[in-house]
Amino acid sequence: MMNGIIRDQAQPLRELVGKSNSGMKIVSIASGKGGVGKSSISVNLAIALSRLGMRVLVVDADFGLANVDVMLGVNSKYNISHLIQGEKKLYEIIQEGYDGVRFISGGSGVYELLRMDENQVRNILQDILVLRDPADILLFDMGAGVNDNIMRLLVSSTETIVVTTPEPTAILDAYALIKMVLKRVPSHPIRLIMNKSDSKKEAETVTKGFKEVVRRNLGVEIESIGNVLYDQEVTRSIKRQTPIIISHPGGASAKEIMSIARTLLDLPAHEGSSSRLYRLFSRLLG
Ligand SMILES: Nc1ncnc2c1ncn2[C@@H]1O[C@H](COP(=O)(O)OP(=O)(O)OP(=O)(O)O)[C@@H](O)[C@H]1O
Ligand SMILES: [Mg+2]
Repeated sequence: MMNGIIRDQAQPLRELVGKSNSGMKIVSIASGKGGVGKSSISVNLAIALSRLGMRVLVVDADFGLANVDVMLGVNSKYNISHLIQGEKKLYEIIQEGYDGVRFISGGSGVYELLRMDENQVRNILQDILVLRDPADILLFDMGAGVNDNIMRLLVSSTETIVVTTPEPTAILDAYALIKMVLKRVPSHPIRLIMNKSDSKKEAETVTKGFKEVVRRNLGVEIESIGNVLYDQEVTRSIKRQTPIIISHPGGASAKEIMSIARTLLDLPAHEGSSSRLYRLFSRLLG
């Protein structure tokens, strides 16, 4: 009974996306535990996807506690709060960051944003879906944990990337989040990024164990799409307000993010000479 009620509440937002038929890929980046690296990954992944030719719009959906703009070194004048208060239209609060990536700031320290109702979230999503200059990929950088709005957006996205670290606490919370999402929508596609591991071996071992637990207990196969290792440059890049993919494009973390972007687009993990040639020809031929 309880599940039935929850599922009904989730339906309208999901239907909105389903009916829009815009073909837009909507990727929500979520975690159970906070501080695991969602925002760092969202920002860098957005730039990576843009470099692969996608039009990307990042929505800082950590409403009220947003920090994507800070990571991008942009001082946002307008944010979601101006939208819900009717002061600005959606296209007026969209800003541009590195590599043509557009983003919407989630607003910081605005109490109303923490308690938006379903209609307000629905209106935001609706505005995005009918943008005159649409995106190919929408990235939702979610807040940590689970609340009604997080749940609604997760199940309304076309896929969810769950970010975790190898710490048992983060793993447990990631499991709890996945369980709740699948309870609402058993077929919802979920992919996993293991962040901040000390080594590739640790990342692979923990990922393997986690996937096994999810398979056994929830009957679902989740796909691992990358392991970003612990890298002090990630923290430094946040202090410098310049994403690591810009400041250290040749480093292991940036390369892994590029590979994650390619996997998301169903491209081979590494750029082969044929796709390089293809890009060259595309450019030459305009
Ligand atoms: N691969 C990494 N190596 C080292 N530090 C990292 C890595 N990824 C993220 N961090 C650090 O972890 C901290 C949290 O990162 P971030 O803000 O991206 O996490 P979050 O999941 O978005 O947090 P919140 O739940 O508060 O939104 C930051 O200090 C960041 O520098
Ligand atoms: Mg964050």
